[in-house]
Amino acid sequence: MVKGRQSRLGLGLGLGPRKSSSRASWTMTLTLLVTCTFLILILLALGIFSIPNDDDASFGLSKPNDLTSIARNTHVSEGGADDDQEQRWVQIISWEPRAFLYHHFLTKEECEYLINTAKPNMRKSTVVDSETGKSKDSRVRTSSGTFLTRGQDQIVRNIEKRIADFTFIPVENGEGLQVLHYEVGQKYEPHFDYFMDAFNTNNGGQRIATMLMYLSDVEEGGETVFPDAKGNISSVPWWNELSDCGKKGLSIKPKMGDALLFWSMKPDATLDPTSLHGGCPVIKGNKWSCTKWMRINEYKI
Ligand SMILES: *[C@@H]1O[C@H](CO)[C@@H](O)[C@H](O)[C@H]1NC(C)=O
Repeated sequence: MVKGRQSRLGLGLGLGPRKSSSRASWTMTLTLLVTCTFLILILLALGIFSIPNDDDASFGLSKPNDLTSIARNTHVSEGGADDDQEQRWVQIISWEPRAFLYHHFLTKEECEYLINTAKPNMRKSTVVDSETGKSKDSRVRTSSGTFLTRGQDQIVRNIEKRIADFTFIPVENGEGLQVLHYEVGQKYEPHFDYFMDAFNTNNGGQRIATMLMYLSDVEEGGETVFPDAKGNISSVPWWNELSDCGKKGLSIKPKMGDALLFWSMKPDATLDPTSLHGGCPVIKGNKWSCTKWMRINEYKI
């Protein structure tokens, strides 16, 4: 096998001067063709090279593992959002818990849209009972809120796609957005976003990360606080602006359009107890926020 190939290659390289020149060039062309075909096949197999695929109908509907959409998605820019994208930047808040602040994540218009869409349906917030897995009223959470349906309209879809782009977690793994409203004195005591019961992990599995978007500024109080964060909590630049509650941990001040991403699970897929977090009581003003919880698997709606 190897021998035969070598001798043919020899001919192709012009080592048979006694043969007719037309036969030699024909063999050479054939060898080149075969070599090129193999090369292209190898490149295709390794994914270095790909055949362009133009079915735009599937755009935006790609499955989580459909890698062909990645190249196209990176070039998508949402109309009119250019100014905000220029200002958008990420700030590393902490590694224990893993927390990152995306500045100017939402536009002012998107914030107002979410508030106005949620307003007619606001209800007193509940918490999950760790024994029964059902929702219940609670004094630890005194806000009011409502869930939006995943993908319910174009603006919500844009936001959900942006969250997926920035968290690397597919849209399908997200619960519906929850819009929350805190008035003066209202708060959410420190808690974990992950579940301790089997009931709530039936659909989608454990919660892996949370994107907490601030839809309004808050004049005083209303910080998101991580009481068990590791590191020097007083080294944050906004330390002097924090309320007493905010000074009990690593705190982030709500700012309209900013989004806080934090992870309830570590990279080794174990739960991260340093992700304990709460919403400090609002002292002055009003706090509107919007939460996207993301699961380890597809969350069916
Ligand atoms: C924490 O940070 C503050 C502000 O940068 C600094 O004054 C203080 O000494 C630091 N504390 C520790 C224990 O490093």
